[in-house]
Amino acid sequence: MKVLGIETSCDETSAAVVADGRILSNVVSSQIDLHRPYGGVVPELASRRHLELIDEVIHTALDESGIALGEIDAIAATYGPGLASSLLIGLNTGKGIALATGKPFIGINHLEAHLYSPVFDGAGMPMISLIVSGGHTILAKVTGIGQHAILGQTVDDAAGEAFDKVAKLLQLSYPGGPEIDRLAKTGNPRAIAFPRSMLNEPGYDFSFSGLKTSVLYFLRKNPTHSVPDICASFQEAAVDVLAGKLLNAAEEYRVKTVSLAGGVSINSRLREKLTGECEKRGLRLLLAPAKLCTDNAGMIATLAHHKLLAGQRSTFSLEVSPSAGLGVAA
Ligand code: KG4
Ligand code: ZN
Repeated sequence: MKVLGIETSCDETSAAVVADGRILSNVVSSQIDLHRPYGGVVPELASRRHLELIDEVIHTALDESGIALGEIDAIAATYGPGLASSLLIGLNTGKGIALATGKPFIGINHLEAHLYSPVFDGAGMPMISLIVSGGHTILAKVTGIGQHAILGQTVDDAAGEAFDKVAKLLQLSYPGGPEIDRLAKTGNPRAIAFPRSMLNEPGYDFSFSGLKTSVLYFLRKNPTHSVPDICASFQEAAVDVLAGKLLNAAEEYRVKTVSLAGGVSINSRLREKLTGECEKRGLRLLLAPAKLCTDNAGMIATLAHHKLLAGQRSTFSLEVSPSAGLGVAA
């Protein structure tokens, strides 16, 4: 089965072609340069840019895959969560192509696509998975594709949001996560003892706003402190909490596989720490390649492939759902 996938939930315009579950093309046109001067995504600008780019991105994805539109068996597009005006462009384009070509259509939950991006071959179930992105921090137990239970999530800021906000406090460029990761490499992670919020509390919820505020207060008192040390110490605190909760859940649920997904899962310290801890504990760690961690249509089309095989379809009445949670049925 050949699926054309479309993703426009935030600031990446992306289209991909997946054949029998294998990604043949995955074109991502990033709008980072457009939003950088504003220090964050400007929804109005994002949706206009999606509209300008979407046709070309879809044509490139088809060309690169060597598959003509006529050979595609189904169309998939993200319906949520994300920015309403951005989601509308991809979802309506997907529905439009499906309607015009008479092919089946399926709406895909962006978070569910992140969740399964490290495990599309179904390997390693059951597992504990952590989605860490710009908008979400969710810990879930996964027993099969489409079968997951949320164990905990952030009660305030998402992990990526904390990286981006702290980077802004440090006047680093947007998006801040990769900048903090880069600068932390030359800093001392033990220089400043930032809080590990909720790490030692029972349950699997997260909180990152206290950590962000601690960095703010520290900066007010120490405006000339080494930026690499602040980056490394902040990152170490965030990574300790993320890795700690993931490993605690693996132990409590006696699961031998853990996985990381979403943009923050590219973080080199998070990967390094979890790789070491998993080796010590005899756990298998599944990581997606970087291109599948940030927003991309490859993960949308691949999850669609599995859902379509299971007989799922969406109707054209499917609307965008900007605040959809993980696992809201399409
Ligand atoms: O999954 P994603 O592309 O978009 C959402 O669905 O939100 O994640 C974007 C987030 C941003 O907050 C960005 O700063 C963060 O991922 N990020 C990182 C790194 N690379 C991207 N955070 C920490 N370290 C990184 N290397
Ligand atoms: Zn995302």
